Amino acid sequence: MEGSQRNGNLVFAVNGERFELACVDPSTTLLQFLRYHASFKSPKLGCGEGGCGACVVLVSKYDPKLNKVEDFSVSSCLTLLCSLNGCAITTSDGLGNTRDGYHPIHQRFAGFHASQCGFCTPGMCMSFFSALVNADKGNPQVSPPQGFSSLTSFEAEKSISGNLCRCTGYRPIADACRSFASDVDIEDLGLNIFWKNGDSTETKAGKLPPYDPSKDLVTYPEFLKSESITRLDSTRYSWFSPVSIEELQTLLNSSVAENVGSVKIVVGNTGTGYYKETQCYDQYIDLRRIPELSILNRDRKGIEIGATATISRVISFLNEGTDVNLGLYGKMVSQKLAQHMEKIANPFVRNTASVGGNLAMAQKFGFPSDMSTLFLGVDATVSILTVRGREKLKWEELLARPALDSRSVLLSVRIPFKKDGNVLQNFSKFLFETYRPAPRPLGSALAYVNAAFLADVSPRRNGVVIHSIRLAFGAFGTNHAIRAKTVEKHLTGKILNVKILYEAVKFVKLDIVPEPGTSYPEYRSSLAVSFLFKFLYPLTNVDSAVSSGLFDGVGETSVEDGDTSEGNTKTILSPAEQVVESSTEYYPVGEPMKKYGVSMQASGEAVYVDDIPSPPNCLHGAIIYSTKPLARVKSVHLQHQPNSIAEEIIGIITFKDIPRGGENVGALSQFGTEPLFAEDHCEYAGDRIVVVVAKSQRSADVAARTTVVEYDTENIDSPILTVEEAVDRSSFLQGPVFLDTEPVGDFSKGMAEADHKILSAELRLPSEYYFYMEPQTTLAVPDEDNTMVVYASTQFPEYTHSVIARCLGVPEHNIRVKTRRAGGGFGGKAIRNMPAEAQPIDLQAHAYFVPDSSSGQYLNYGAAVSEVEIDILTGQPRIMQSDIIYDCGQSLNPAVDLGQIEGAFVQGIGYFMLEEYLTNEDGLMVTNSTWTYHIPTIDTITKRLNVRVLNSGHHKKRILSSKASGEPPLLLAATVHSATRAAIREARKQLKHWGKLDKYDSEFYLDVPAIMPVVKTTCGLDYVEKYLETLISKPST
Ligand SMILES: Cc1cc2nc3c(=O)[nH]c(=O)nc-3n(C[C@H](O)[C@H](O)[C@H](O)COP(=O)(O)OP(=O)(O)OC[C@H]3O[C@@H](n4cnc5c(N)ncnc54)[C@H](O)[C@@H]3O)c2cc1C
Ligand code: FES
Ligand code: FES
Repeated sequence: MEGSQRNGNLVFAVNGERFELACVDPSTTLLQFLRYHASFKSPKLGCGEGGCGACVVLVSKYDPKLNKVEDFSVSSCLTLLCSLNGCAITTSDGLGNTRDGYHPIHQRFAGFHASQCGFCTPGMCMSFFSALVNADKGNPQVSPPQGFSSLTSFEAEKSISGNLCRCTGYRPIADACRSFASDVDIEDLGLNIFWKNGDSTETKAGKLPPYDPSKDLVTYPEFLKSESITRLDSTRYSWFSPVSIEELQTLLNSSVAENVGSVKIVVGNTGTGYYKETQCYDQYIDLRRIPELSILNRDRKGIEIGATATISRVISFLNEGTDVNLGLYGKMVSQKLAQHMEKIANPFVRNTASVGGNLAMAQKFGFPSDMSTLFLGVDATVSILTVRGREKLKWEELLARPALDSRSVLLSVRIPFKKDGNVLQNFSKFLFETYRPAPRPLGSALAYVNAAFLADVSPRRNGVVIHSIRLAFGAFGTNHAIRAKTVEKHLTGKILNVKILYEAVKFVKLDIVPEPGTSYPEYRSSLAVSFLFKFLYPLTNVDSAVSSGLFDGVGETSVEDGDTSEGNTKTILSPAEQVVESSTEYYPVGEPMKKYGVSMQASGEAVYVDDIPSPPNCLHGAIIYSTKPLARVKSVHLQHQPNSIAEEIIGIITFKDIPRGGENVGALSQFGTEPLFAEDHCEYAGDRIVVVVAKSQRSADVAARTTVVEYDTENIDSPILTVEEAVDRSSFLQGPVFLDTEPVGDFSKGMAEADHKILSAELRLPSEYYFYMEPQTTLAVPDEDNTMVVYASTQFPEYTHSVIARCLGVPEHNIRVKTRRAGGGFGGKAIRNMPAEAQPIDLQAHAYFVPDSSSGQYLNYGAAVSEVEIDILTGQPRIMQSDIIYDCGQSLNPAVDLGQIEGAFVQGIGYFMLEEYLTNEDGLMVTNSTWTYHIPTIDTITKRLNVRVLNSGHHKKRILSSKASGEPPLLLAATVHSATRAAIREARKQLKHWGKLDKYDSEFYLDVPAIMPVVKTTCGLDYVEKYLETLISKPST
């Protein structure tokens, strides 16, 4: 059937429906096709860079030779459509939906209250579904109890470790996923709608929506099997899939590759998540059909990895290898590499990201790669194809060469195995360890530094001798991974003791020097010191090294995975308690209830603004924001674009295009109105200058990203960017009267009588980015007689309404604003400040409840206590437990309030511990992507979060006596920061205890957020050195 039946067309299936496309732009991503060319709206567009998981779908590939289907999750925002010829795609609404009935995953997400705004939910469901399929499909040797999966609780939690959720705080999502696990203790699962008080464990299991792997896991339609290996017509699609190295070589030397800038070699295309494309390629060369490039081989001499092998495949292969007889060295290296690779990116990126792509990014563009460091550590060799032919060389040599040109191809990597030491003669032993401290322990964040160490050592009577040592470091602010050669030289041939280790540690700081401009350079150097200490310190005492088994076999891994153990079950989160007190006074109001429409959110059928089908001839806009704080805009130049983009660009809209009678207004607030567009000059970095309008969003985005804006700052005052500058220049803004504080009690008397007084203090708190998962989106549809229907993801439709009417100069009744739901908002989709002037209006006599204006003034009560551990070598905090008690008044739905409390608390953890909000010298926020802005993930939140929702107080003036639960609990996360501070204080006391370290005893300030560099810096960056000095200075016994 090869090619003939469908004439080289692109054929694939989505949710069982066959698609055959005769032509498509090769740069089209799967997500673009699903959402905008077809009408599969359940995968959402969140970040567009592989970092959030909102777009995750399942891809299934059929291998006719093995008659096997391979299923894996992918980020559809990065996956190119042409790479899916012959594949089947499943989206969350393909699993189940309103019409055909929901999948048990949807039902359990709904029943465990695991979805709030719902924007992340379909992606979560698909990440989990992928894990479920792989655990249960064709796995007859494992038989979990009926209704459960063979997946473990840990695997269930790990499956969603790369998906971001801003609302729920993850605990209920983890519970929904763990409810499928074979090893789950059902009593450990949290609040849900399925169980009643007093149900037995068996009854509870029986009440969960039933899961039947034999019918709930169909992914690849039969009809597609016969078309699974057909080839695309290369020229029609500009998509070349050579099937041999020779064909690839011919292609690279042909006219196709002549115009080198417009041809792209591609495998998983995940690299575009980091290096955003600002150009369109005319032709793509897909390497994945060349069998030689996808090989995975091993023998006792080493491992061969083809360049197109995905990171996930390599991990599975290395893990299998630990069961094969490879010798101690092979087993150890395989295990450690696999453990490290599991922390690279996230599951859905690893499933398509290739090893060769990663190494090419490292070699060509200086990407802070983990692979590169690992392969440098194990002294790998690589095979490459250049215009001169094939060449084999050390990875280290290739790293030192100039960047490969766009016609050079990485073919494979070989990891050589060393011969295990002769145990009888000298007990020589290879040790191999890798390290990657990162803001998120389970991956989904680049490491601050990564490292791979290999040493050949043997025990002697007077100590451990180092025969040879290889110390590879990367990602620390270096163009590529390097070896710490000074340290290696210093250690080679020595018998290790504390003094030699101390000297080596000093040398590390000479070798590992981050390039200028790298953030936290001293912290990164100190991490390098920590790794060396961790690796070698156990060897400084030969007796304990031998007795602890260091010379026996494969040791424990050093890559922190943040796991905890509960009994025999390994989990990320520990069982937590949720106690909700509810009132029966207005039954059923007051009962914990499932939110309406939540199953639809899980299946992805719930409609957000971007899911509304665009009307014919719809135009798309992308805003160009000012990068300067206070400057005149001299000009805006759209750059020359290739034809495909240029044809789609319509033009730009500026303040001059505001219709006559309208007003340049973009927001209303208590400070007055804010202009929609900058006029003669922009006032702050991030001010709106113009909107580029194009026929597609992609073209508008590319044009906006490449537009050049010229500024002029002559005779303009320097901008005010800090509070201190504002005070210096007496530039004050009058706040709204309702925010004025009223004195309570007699302040002077209180101070005079106080036992302890804070005479002066300074508190600096940064901003937090809203990071709602659904980007700001609006669809405006002009209607008859100068009217307009506006679908907006706004939290305040009433103000959106007024602003639009004023801007267009039309009466308010000409504008209709529709807001069905917002995919997160957190105040970020309101206006900049909430107007005070809102007046309650009794519209319909007594059918409309109008709260008394005083009902807005009440006190919220809540308390929390948190327990935190810190790793003084890396600065990594682990939040072991938090206990919250929170008064929601008389809750309307305690399940919703519980979700709000947990979600807000976790958002607070982000604020106090993780979310670094950095601006450049112009005040422009620069940590503005999933690569740089780290909201909490399942592995960075409180392990055990116990919450008690009090049903107290009867504030009769409020609607059914309820109180806000969405915002105030965020502040309770200050306990996590305080506990971290307490842990740091103990670490500093230890330093003092070691002697003459007075400065560490003084009071200290712990910045917000207390990210890893902050924690370690506050503990003392030279902790290791101080410790070693203490040991050296001790009189020997
Ligand atoms: C969200 C996210 C997080 C990530 N986190 C990490 C991390 O923590 N650590 C880490 O090390 N990496 C990380 N990565 C990088 C990831 O590993 C790489 O993007 C991936 O391995 C690239 O493989 P690919 O097949 O998708 O390459 P592509 O995107 O297809 O290609 C990448 C580049 O390499 C070129 N190329 C591809 N294959 C070859 C070849 N065989 N020969 C020559 N050139 C080639 C392409 O032309 C392109 O320029 C992350 C990526 C994402 C999206
Ligand atoms: S939208 Fe694809 S990962 Fe965020
Ligand atoms: S429910 Fe997860 S982002 Fe809103």
